[in-house]
Amino acid sequence: MRIAMLASEAAPYVKTGGLGDVMQALPAELSKIKGNEIVLFLPYYKKIKLDPSIKVEAVGSFTMELAWRESYVGIFRLKSRRKKLQIYFIDNDYYFGARSTIYGDFDDGERFTYFSKAAMAALYYLNFKPDILHCHDWQSAMGVVYCRALYQAWCPNTKTIFTIHNVEYQGWADSSFFETTLGLPEFFRGHMTFDGSINLMKGAITMADVVSTVSKTYSQELCYPQYAHRLDGVLRNATLTGITNGIDVGVYNPETDAALRVNYSAADMSGKWENKRALREEMGLRTDVDTPIMGMVTRLAGHKGIDLLCYIAQKLLQRDVQLVIVGTGEKQYECILSALQKQYPGKVAVRLAFDPALACRVYAGVDMYLMPSKSEPCGLSQLIAMRYGGVPIVSETGGLKDTVPNYDPESKEGRGFVFSEYTGEEFLSAIDRAVALYYDDREEFNALAKRNMQTDFSWQVPAGEYMKLYTELLSK
Ligand code: GLC
Repeated sequence: MRIAMLASEAAPYVKTGGLGDVMQALPAELSKIKGNEIVLFLPYYKKIKLDPSIKVEAVGSFTMELAWRESYVGIFRLKSRRKKLQIYFIDNDYYFGARSTIYGDFDDGERFTYFSKAAMAALYYLNFKPDILHCHDWQSAMGVVYCRALYQAWCPNTKTIFTIHNVEYQGWADSSFFETTLGLPEFFRGHMTFDGSINLMKGAITMADVVSTVSKTYSQELCYPQYAHRLDGVLRNATLTGITNGIDVGVYNPETDAALRVNYSAADMSGKWENKRALREEMGLRTDVDTPIMGMVTRLAGHKGIDLLCYIAQKLLQRDVQLVIVGTGEKQYECILSALQKQYPGKVAVRLAFDPALACRVYAGVDMYLMPSKSEPCGLSQLIAMRYGGVPIVSETGGLKDTVPNYDPESKEGRGFVFSEYTGEEFLSAIDRAVALYYDDREEFNALAKRNMQTDFSWQVPAGEYMKLYTELLSK
């Protein structure tokens, strides 16, 4: 099967969040399946262009219209021996190569419309006629639309799939964007318009053969206004399915992770306790205690539940626990967390940083991992935390619900501690259940952590589900 993927980020080249992890692992996993040929398109950001360790070769260039603009499109390909997975970078200095931003520029709508259109043009240029065109999030949503609008005659049998990793970001633009930038036939205006404005994600949802999202529960939640950021009506009319993400178990592997003090496996957890000691030293936490460490590696944003944590913090810190938080984000939370660290020296450690290596040491060093998200399409941190032998404490939403069944002390089934009502009291009570197990039955607490480590969170299962979905689409 020939599969073309479009995305705005993929680790290790460029990553700002979970999408980057998914785009590193999913194409690679699919390329291992016999008969598959995968191409992945990314913007050629300045950061990638300037990185001497990323070796590319020029493949070709042409000019392309974007409404009234005549734009340059350069195609570069990662030098690689893996012929089944080719990574292409779309080069244009004006949009990507000469500025440092990944997201957040005034003209993001135009930048990513350009990217999506250029990637389609590049497929045509390369004469790579995909069986499946798979676009991710609003930044590549226009790939689906241009595929239908401009390339129908060239690839009439190509099936399109659009995956929503986070519905919060949709690519809104003024209604004039339709003429000034999209440059589509009038027929498409209705598909692109929502509430008088242009909405790129809506375009992909209404035009794709199938829409998917990154967990079963989130795919159901998206049909309700409290989760869908206004697109619930549009999504209720779509063919919507959910496939829960995995993690790259080669990258996130406590047996080989070079960021850790010592490597360890489920067979011998003593290395984990070594990492716990090391984390205390590194973060300036008291080392002469036997408390559980709870950790969070996160963007400091309200929907990640940081507000809930701040709300319960004073009560939580009356307990014999230690708290480690790593992340950057909204100023208000940075201030509250820094104040907590001052108030509870040796007990609370905060690093306001985006630091992937430290993140891994946190996963390896903590006993419990907090993820009280208000909504969570899938969430990868809870999976990484479990792979490193942590016990997650999560809200019952989206992918958290699907990947962390609540622990039942009777049957000893489940993977973590779940709260369903989104209140500080419920969050605290889930934490208390975890802390009680830690102090009252350490053997069972450690056994739970160990079982989590042994659970298969690899991409093999989800990649198989995507293949099934693709195959179904192609048989229609
Ligand atoms: C987004 C979502 C997150 C998901 C990730 C990868 O970042 O917020 O829940 O895990 O995409 O699909």
